[in-house]
Parts: sequence; C-alpha cells; structure tokens
Amino acid sequence: MSVVITIDGPSGVGKGTLAQWLACKTGFHFLDSGAIYRSLAYGVMQAELDVNDIEPIIALAKTLPVEFKANSIIYEGVDITSKVRTEEVASIASQVAPIPEVRAALLERQQAFAQAPGLIADGRDMGTVVFPNAQLKLFLTASAEVRAERRVKQLKNQGNDANIARIIQDIRARDERDANRKTAPLKPADDAITIDTSDLNIDQVCQKAASLLNSQG
Ligand code: C5P
Repeated sequence: MSVVITIDGPSGVGKGTLAQWLACKTGFHFLDSGAIYRSLAYGVMQAELDVNDIEPIIALAKTLPVEFKANSIIYEGVDITSKVRTEEVASIASQVAPIPEVRAALLERQQAFAQAPGLIADGRDMGTVVFPNAQLKLFLTASAEVRAERRVKQLKNQGNDANIARIIQDIRARDERDANRKTAPLKPADDAITIDTSDLNIDQVCQKAASLLNSQG
C-alpha cells in the first residue's frame, strides 16, 4: 500500500495550499476531495435538482461524469475549474454531502487516488473515513474570523468586492453543516495532529507540516 498523508479541516483554513505544497515537495499525488463534492453540486445545479430530493442526487453521485486532469476539473468534457469555486457551489456541496449514500458512492473513487509513490489527501473525512490507515494525519484549524479575513484578502487580490460579515456568516453556516452531520462529520481523527493556523502564515504552516513529516521518517 502506498503512503497516504491526510489533511482535514474546515473551509478556508489553508488545507489546499498546504496539500499542494506537500504534493510538490514529495512528488506524491494530490486529492482535493472537496472538488469532487463541488462537482456533484455543479451537476445538481446544472440539472436543476432539488437538494431535498435525494434519489436523483444519489444516482448522479454514482455516475458522476467528472475527471481530474492536471489542475483542471472536467465535467462532461467542459472545464469547470473556476465555476466550482463560488460560495454558492460550496453551499450546495455542503447540503448534499451529508447524504450517506452520496458519500458511499464517492468513497472508492477517492480511495483510488492512493497510488505509488503516495498521496496527499485534502478534505473533511480523509483521516477518519476515507484513509483511516494513513501514515500521517493533520487537522488544521483557525477561527472563522481569521479564515474570513484570508478569504477577503484573496477576493480583493483578484479584484473582487468582499463583504466580511457575509463571508463570516457563510463560513459559520458551512462549518456547522459539516461538523454536525451524522455521516463523516468534520472532526479530527483520534490519531491526527492538530495545527492551529490562526497566528501562522502559510510558509510557517508548510514548515510545521514538513517537520512533522520528517519526524515520521
Ligand atoms: O473543501 P471544499 O471547501 O472544497 O469542500 C466543499 C464542501 O464539500 C464542504 O463544505 C463539505 O460539505 C464537502 N466535503 C465533504 N467531505 C470532503 C470534502 C468536502 O463533505 N472530504
């Protein structure tokens, strides 16, 4: 079995940046599991499905026509990479992600990413459900305010307007749904190492994770 390193935590905590940095440093594959749930949300929106009508959503999850090519997300042949990054898509993703049959349908698809020489997996339940035997499990945290400030900075750098109060509200609503669902809630695995990133910049987070990785041999 190949080496797996899991990075879980709430939205906007820097998991994605850390995971990509570690993947680059180690030469391991990278799984952005949130992109799978966002692709499902995109499909739900495109087909105008009602999030409360779970049967067609489960059917879609079983045959989700998404592929990951380099850094792009391809849905039925169309590049949807930038389309799935909106808060609206994230919100729908977090409303369909609690459905147990949806999670079951997407499980093997995620596990298939674990290939030699190794995998860095980013998500909410990577260490608890998808890769319970991972060699190193990290759990990143930061307050909703700190995460919202980072998001505002990112949006402003991209030339977009940002309303911090609204962003804090969206982050809290999504955290609540992710942490309180019955199936695979957002929580650290018993053997995860938690890193509070509130007072760390991304370089410091990467250095901390790298030293944890080195200390594991
Ligand atoms: O990580 P990202 O913000 O892209 O994830 C979008 C949503 O997908 C999360 O808020 C969560 O509801 C869902 N998700 C999940 N399990 C994962 C990854 C994402 O339920 N492993």
